Amino acid sequence: MRAPDDAFADPKQAALYDFFDGDRSDLDLYLSIAAEVDADSIVDIGCGTGSLAVRLAEGGKTVVGVDPAAASLDVARGKTNAERVRWLLGDATALRDHHANVDLAVMTGNVAQVFISDKDWHETLSSIRSCLRPGGWLVFETRRPEARAWNEWDLPPTEVTLPDGRSAIVSRSVTSVEFPLVSFEGWTEIDGETLWTGSTLRFRNQEEIARDLARHGFEVVDVRDAPDRPGKELIFLTRVSVTPRPGDS
Ligand SMILES: C[S@@+](CC[C@H](N)C(=O)[O-])C[C@H]1O[C@@H](n2cnc3c(N)ncnc32)[C@H](O)[C@@H]1O
Repeated sequence: MRAPDDAFADPKQAALYDFFDGDRSDLDLYLSIAAEVDADSIVDIGCGTGSLAVRLAEGGKTVVGVDPAAASLDVARGKTNAERVRWLLGDATALRDHHANVDLAVMTGNVAQVFISDKDWHETLSSIRSCLRPGGWLVFETRRPEARAWNEWDLPPTEVTLPDGRSAIVSRSVTSVEFPLVSFEGWTEIDGETLWTGSTLRFRNQEEIARDLARHGFEVVDVRDAPDRPGKELIFLTRVSVTPRPGDS
C-alpha cells in the first residue's frame, strides 16, 4: 500500500490536522447512519486523528480505529475518551483477523480517494469485506469527479491563528490534473519551519465504484448527498450482499 502523506504521518502536521479540518459537521452523517443501520461494532478505516471513532465510542459503540499514520493515531490517543477505542496501526488489511463479526465499516474524510492504484483499492475492499458479518455495512464517501473540487484547492499564502495563539502561513497548489488522478502540494510555515506535504487522489465515478463493490460482494443500497457539501460528494451505503456470488460456497 502507498505510504500515508506527510500531512498525516509527520507528527508536526498531524498535530495541526484537527484545527485545519474545521468543525467536523461532516461526521454527523456517519453518526446518524450508524444509528440507522443499528450498528454496535464499527471499524473506522483511515480514522486519522480519531474524531469519529471517539464520538462513536462515546455513544456506546464498540469501535476499532485503523490508520497507517502513527502520528495521527498518537493525536487520536490523546483525546478524551480515546481509551474506549481500540487503535490499530495499519491499513484495512490489519482487520483480516476480525473474524467477520463487524456490523459497520466507515471511511470518512474521502479516505477512499487515497487508493490510487487498483491493487490498493481492491485489497482494501477485500479486507473490509472479510471483517464484516453477513449483511454488514460499508459506508464511505468520495468526491464527485464532475464537481471538479480541485478547481478550488489553490490557496495563496494565507495567515491563520492557531487555537494556542501561534500564527502560521498556509498555502496549497494543484500540481497536476491527469484525470482520474489529481496531485497537489501544501506548505505550512510555522515556528520558523516550513512543513511540506504532497498528495495524489483518485476520482472514481459512481458507476465504477458500484462495479468494484459488486466484485467484492457488496450491494449498493443507497448513494446519498453529503448535507454539509451539497452536490459535491457521493456517500455510498453498501451492504455485504446476501445473494451468493459465483464461486462462493
Ligand atoms: C483526509 S484523512 C481522513 C482522516 C479521518 N477519516 C477523518 O475523517 O478525519 C485521510 C486518512 O487516510 C489515511 N490513509 C492513508 N493511506 C491509507 C490506507 N492505505 N489505508 C487506510 N487509511 C489510509 C491517512 O493516514 C489519513 O489519516
